[in-house]
Amino acid sequence: MTILVAVRGWKPDHWIHALREAAPDRAVVLPGDEFDPDSVRYALVWKPEPGYLKTLPKLEAIFSLGAGVDHLTTDPDLPDLPVVRIVDPDLTGRMTEWVVLNVLLHHRRHLHYAAAQAAGSWKPLRQWAAGAVRVGIMGLGELGRDAAQALLALGFQVAGWSRTEKRVDGVDCFHGKDGLAPFLARTDMLVSLLPLTAETESLIDRAVIDALAKDGPLGGPVILNAGRGRSLVEADLVEALRDGRVKGASLDVFATEPLPPESPLWQTPNLFLTPHVAAESDPVALSRYVIGEIAAYEAGRPLRHLVDRHKGY
Ligand code: NAP
Ligand code: GLV
Repeated sequence: MTILVAVRGWKPDHWIHALREAAPDRAVVLPGDEFDPDSVRYALVWKPEPGYLKTLPKLEAIFSLGAGVDHLTTDPDLPDLPVVRIVDPDLTGRMTEWVVLNVLLHHRRHLHYAAAQAAGSWKPLRQWAAGAVRVGIMGLGELGRDAAQALLALGFQVAGWSRTEKRVDGVDCFHGKDGLAPFLARTDMLVSLLPLTAETESLIDRAVIDALAKDGPLGGPVILNAGRGRSLVEADLVEALRDGRVKGASLDVFATEPLPPESPLWQTPNLFLTPHVAAESDPVALSRYVIGEIAAYEAGRPLRHLVDRHKGY
């Protein structure tokens, strides 16, 4: 049974190679190859051409090669088939590294020290304890929960906000529209790991920014986003960083990617940018994961980590 790989913006060769290693007995093809469309049972995709998947009549399941699925849910012609997303320790661990790195970057004042070093200036600042900082994670899913545990281990006070009620050891849990205001009011460092849905689009705007705590040790809030760029109103963040209402920010995801050269974000002070690399999809680790899921499915077990089309994640 043939596996089709359609990855726009990524090099397909690594995926083909890794999949052939993980499943030497299967045919692995790309959209431009010559193959019988009826032979394709599984599609492994990242931002496939809209409408392409519906041209595969015998497709049984679609695997998103990332944790996020907005690259699929926005396709009006997406076939009505199970969509499986990545839930794998390799990807989760990478995201937790990014969150910890960027929380510490602001907590330990490293934007200041990098600038001081560039200026040849010896300028120590007062440092407070991790326990004095209240981190708030938007999205208490696979990624949010793992990041929360790592931050708790470092001594930060951690809260989380989700759509439905959650219980996570050591984490102060808030949920739903009613839980948002109290969650923001106790948060010095906001970390968004939200999926992009109709409800989360443009969620982090001026009102949310201004509802964050202002009495923390940094003298104002810090904002981190590695969920999806369109959950944040970039112009509102730029303004808040420029006028000092926000003390620092780290962004890995953007409304338009690659971030256009004319974006004001490039020149905004106290902002650290990474080019959507927080949790890269590793071909070797994720090919093993998907092939394992396909083998389990063919052995009669139900597919796991299915996307709920209605919720959008
Ligand atoms: P997940 O397990 O589905 O978790 C999503 C979390 O967001 C859940 O806790 C969910 O609440 C919450 N949520 C969704 N809609 C909400 C709403 N309207 N209000 C409040 N909370 C809401 O997803 P995940 O695996 O953690 O991944 C999260 C996202 O990270 C992905 O969708 C993707 O966009 C992003 N991501 C980015 C990178 C990168 O490199 N930058 C890499 C991987 C993933 P419930 O628990 O109540 O359902
Ligand atoms: C990357 O952005 C992912 O969704 O895995």
